[in-house]
Amino acid sequence: MTSNLLIRNAEILLPNGDLFLGDLSIKEGKIAEIGTQLQDDSAQIIDATGLTLLPGVIDPQVHFREPGLEYKEDLFTASCACAKGGVTSFLEMPNTKPLTTTQERLDEKLHLASQKCLVNYGFFMGATAENLDDLRNANPACGIKIFMGSNHGALLVSTEAEIEPIFAKGSRLIAVHAEDQARIVERKKQFKDISNPAIHSEIQDETAALNATKLAVKLSNKYQRRLHILHLSTGIEAEYLREHKTPWISTEVTPQHLLLNTDDYDRIGTLAQMNPPLRSKQNNEILWKALLDGVIDCIATDHAPHTLEEKAKPYPHSPSGMPGVETSLLLMLTEYKKGRCTLAQVVKWMCSNPAKLYNIPNKGEIKVGYDADVILVDLKNYKPVLKENLSTKCGWSPFEGWNLTGWPVYTIVLGNIALEKGKLNTEVRGKPLTFGSN
Ligand code: DOR
Repeated sequence: MTSNLLIRNAEILLPNGDLFLGDLSIKEGKIAEIGTQLQDDSAQIIDATGLTLLPGVIDPQVHFREPGLEYKEDLFTASCACAKGGVTSFLEMPNTKPLTTTQERLDEKLHLASQKCLVNYGFFMGATAENLDDLRNANPACGIKIFMGSNHGALLVSTEAEIEPIFAKGSRLIAVHAEDQARIVERKKQFKDISNPAIHSEIQDETAALNATKLAVKLSNKYQRRLHILHLSTGIEAEYLREHKTPWISTEVTPQHLLLNTDDYDRIGTLAQMNPPLRSKQNNEILWKALLDGVIDCIATDHAPHTLEEKAKPYPHSPSGMPGVETSLLLMLTEYKKGRCTLAQVVKWMCSNPAKLYNIPNKGEIKVGYDADVILVDLKNYKPVLKENLSTKCGWSPFEGWNLTGWPVYTIVLGNIALEKGKLNTEVRGKPLTFGSN
């Protein structure tokens, strides 16, 4: 379905951070040329006057629920949400039903994605206490996911004795959900009345996160094993990593841990409940600082949709998690417009760094020869997040009503237009991502 495209008069963000007003031509799914007054008689022309051309976002942590939990989300609806939010590639987590813990399950997801996804896709293998050989041989997988704290059945691998063998053997990237399960279980018993969802941030406290991060760092450094710490939520972890991070360790933060905090339980109740939990306003500030000065490498959404009916259950019966792929880029571009960071930093955190950290070739930058995963965003107008406009099946966002800028007008995946003037082309399909060695 790929046709040649010629994007005219865009403000193009180049890899060196400069903005260049000009044209970009796309041939056979690749960026063919960047210049002024380019000509291609065979190409479809896109007039990008007033729009900014960025690389498509690579979201390195999402939960898209298929197979098995399609009542919350599925690969088609989630990838529509991606295209709307400017996300052209995603890395998806193994807590589906069945769990992604064998090559067969991985192949099943890859097949489903090839049938249903508008954008490019990669999948994690989930570690259990028993699947070391599956973890070592799985292909293509973006990494191994360890839930050090969770309620995802066999995916809970929480003791040092269980975790160490995974670090000791093999070379694939290990991504950890770092929360100390034993501490969480103990703390839960100490609270008499746990009906207020705000208690979630106290049960799964900052020390629980720090303990697990320290253990993961210790094992990574012992075996020099590539480690990525998922959704960093606390200032104390950021300060710990400032001292102890080695070149083979990286980390990420979610927009919600930067922009929401424990005050939001009053505003949206259990919709603010996620793991690791939201923290104080002061933590927001320390995480921002760590992101700006490079201790935190990239941004992920941890898109984890649950239905409103499930979320309406009283705490602690309400599930943890919130959707994110449709709003993450907008939130960060709005912060850029407020002066909190530069446009080049947003692109580094959301596009080029995820590609580098996961060794995804030819993506994340606007360069000749790179894959034509690009987006045209409108940085001039602001629009509120409205639930009736969302594509995620769960149908809600913790950012409903927020007035944001940077809405994608076009989302182009491997040279195919998946979103045009805000309208989805649901025929477009992405491709499986490939991963170099760590
Ligand atoms: O809040 C969360 N929900 N955090 C996770 O890591 C998992 C997720 C889910 O799958 O619901």
